[in-house]
Amino acid sequence: MHIGIIGAGQLGQMLGYAARELGHSCFYLDPSEHPPAAKVGPVIQARFDDRVALTVLADKCDVLTYEFENVPVEALADIADLKPIYPPPEALRHAQDRLAEKQLFESLNIPLPNYVAVDTPEDLQKAIGSIGLPLVLKTRRLGYDGKGQFVLRSAEQFDAAWQALGGRELIAEQWIPFDYEVSAIGVRNIKGETATYCLTQNEHADGILRTSRAPVEDAALARQADRHMQRLLERLDYVGVLTLELFVANGELLANEFAPRVHNSGHWTIEGATTSQFANHILAITGETPGATATSGYAGMVNLIGEIPEAARQDNEGCLHDYGKAPRQGRKLGHITVVAESSEDRDRQISKLVAYVTKSTAE
Ligand SMILES: Nc1ncnc2c1ncn2[C@@H]1O[C@H](COP(=O)(O)OP(=O)(O)O)[C@@H](O)[C@H]1O
Ligand SMILES: [Mg+2]
Repeated sequence: MHIGIIGAGQLGQMLGYAARELGHSCFYLDPSEHPPAAKVGPVIQARFDDRVALTVLADKCDVLTYEFENVPVEALADIADLKPIYPPPEALRHAQDRLAEKQLFESLNIPLPNYVAVDTPEDLQKAIGSIGLPLVLKTRRLGYDGKGQFVLRSAEQFDAAWQALGGRELIAEQWIPFDYEVSAIGVRNIKGETATYCLTQNEHADGILRTSRAPVEDAALARQADRHMQRLLERLDYVGVLTLELFVANGELLANEFAPRVHNSGHWTIEGATTSQFANHILAITGETPGATATSGYAGMVNLIGEIPEAARQDNEGCLHDYGKAPRQGRKLGHITVVAESSEDRDRQISKLVAYVTKSTAE
């Protein structure tokens, strides 16, 4: 099949590699000059809301998907009659607005932190009263990698928080002193067949994902996560891979957000699972049955942000994925996956790689 992918970043690149292995070809649409996925297939260089370019893409392809969350839903609506778009734009609409997203979790009885919508300074004042401090103020739209967020720890920070984020649609959220963070990755195909990966434990710094480890060996948490995932997939009549980010606090899961796409926290599945998240997304949107999601041993992933240190390049235990992007501070340039026979050995390898990354940043 010809698959049209909106967005040609590293996720598009890895989707493209998986699609190629499954015998498909990919076309992309992306506004940037030399996007990572240009290595895998032709890119129409255009804005994500360029109706003409989107129509050209739809004409060239049998099915459309997206790897980027901020594609305007209205632009997709215009081409929805031309070719199937998976995941359904309705899922994207919820994921683009933190308020709609949280209301969706609530309506599915998926536990989440307390929250209120904030549009005015008075709303924020009320939020402090009802939620308490600390709380985190977030823009409802367009946030990623921790951007568009302000943690309010004391009432003195009120003005600073409002200055940083005020004037946009916001949401105030209870600050969760979580034990750790996890993500659940699930897939559903056109026929409604589903599969889920084991839970992945994620570590963030400055709002950016740094490391992932799988599996999380906690059967009770896995059951909770699977229940939440199945409800989300069903409700959204979902097709493709969906990622749910959660906090673990006192043995319970609290939903943070979901992404209607393959996810950085699932990159370990390329080497660490029978079928990668990328292959499963492609299988799902092309009408095939999802492949086995079993984990082989203990997997981990370390993100390479801002630069790829020479020591990380030379490392012979892990598997380096270099997206081919120009180095820039805070930019995800690649990742290294490790797969080990024990969690201890996996953690040793991750610590070694993290030291390379930290040492290089400190220099
Ligand atoms: N309510 C919260 N309580 C505690 N930590 C939070 C909360 N919200 C966000 N964080 C921290 O900030 C990170 C990024 O926030 P998130 O809501 O996932 O936004 P983004 O869209 O930038 O990924 C989270 O992974 C978590 O580490
Ligand atoms: Mg997040």
